[in-house]
Amino acid sequence: MQPETTTESSKTPPKEIIRLVDVHKHFGDLVVLDGITVGLRAGQTTVIIGESGSGKSVILKHIIRLLRPTRGEVHYQDQRIDLLPEAELAPIRARFGFLFQLSALFDSMTVGQNIAFPIHELTRRSHSEIEEDVKRKLALVGLDGTQNMWPAELSGGQMKRVALARAIALDPEIILYDEPTTGLDPPRADVINELIIKLQRELGVTSVVVTHDMASAGKVSDRVLMLYRGKFIFDGTPEEILRSEDQRVRCFVEGHCYEEDRRTL
Ligand SMILES: Nc1ncnc2c1ncn2[C@@H]1O[C@H](COP(=O)(O)OP(=O)(O)OP(=O)(O)O)[C@@H](O)[C@H]1O
Ligand SMILES: [Mg+2]
Repeated sequence: MQPETTTESSKTPPKEIIRLVDVHKHFGDLVVLDGITVGLRAGQTTVIIGESGSGKSVILKHIIRLLRPTRGEVHYQDQRIDLLPEAELAPIRARFGFLFQLSALFDSMTVGQNIAFPIHELTRRSHSEIEEDVKRKLALVGLDGTQNMWPAELSGGQMKRVALARAIALDPEIILYDEPTTGLDPPRADVINELIIKLQRELGVTSVVVTHDMASAGKVSDRVLMLYRGKFIFDGTPEEILRSEDQRVRCFVEGHCYEEDRRTL
């Protein structure tokens, strides 16, 4: 029987699971983030776009505390993760899956060992339980039976899917995707888009996707943020971004440069 849906809960907006408050990040003289405030709601997929070097990966690294802000606050639920001591971060990091920009598989481990790695590190599951976990995750990304292959034997698209299987090995609540479709041809990129959607729908995960790929952004996102010179200059739906009249946004969305940039070329 289908569970009853409660109209009450569907009226209440999902709560914010991650919140960045006036986050500034400087590397020496380089100002990468210049006061970013944003809340990300549970169960939603937020896409962050912006030109190369604008600080998209830096934002993801703040969310999982691989970087700390020069100034400002990073909250995960009701905790200030930018202030937590390293020892208290492990249980929080276990709730996050991070798909790195370059798949970052361990070359000296098989596909199965790559996916098993975080499970071994962070849980006390038995060998046979882990084997089952690995099988299930590979099935979810459509790569059943590839446990014994080596990363060098995989195509770029397959590597991304293995990296995704590893990112979801511990059933994360939040998945951070750093350019999941870059370098893939359109059909293979679309396989990744479908997986992002499937994980959100079937597992209810909260996703943050960094991408340059506007087709992917339009397909997977509930909300799009555009980062430009250290600040968010757009925050809206994928439909709204197509109608934006801000030249900086149009330039990115349409893939041509605007006057100010042209003058500096
Ligand atoms: N650990 C670091 N130390 C010094 N500078 C850094 C560090 N990490 C990032 N940067 C700098 O911060 C800026 C933003 O980097 P980031 O990797 O976030 O860009 P990006 O928007 O993800 O770009 P791309 O689309 O090319 O991946 C770059 O100028 C980069 O050189
Ligand atoms: Mg990046």
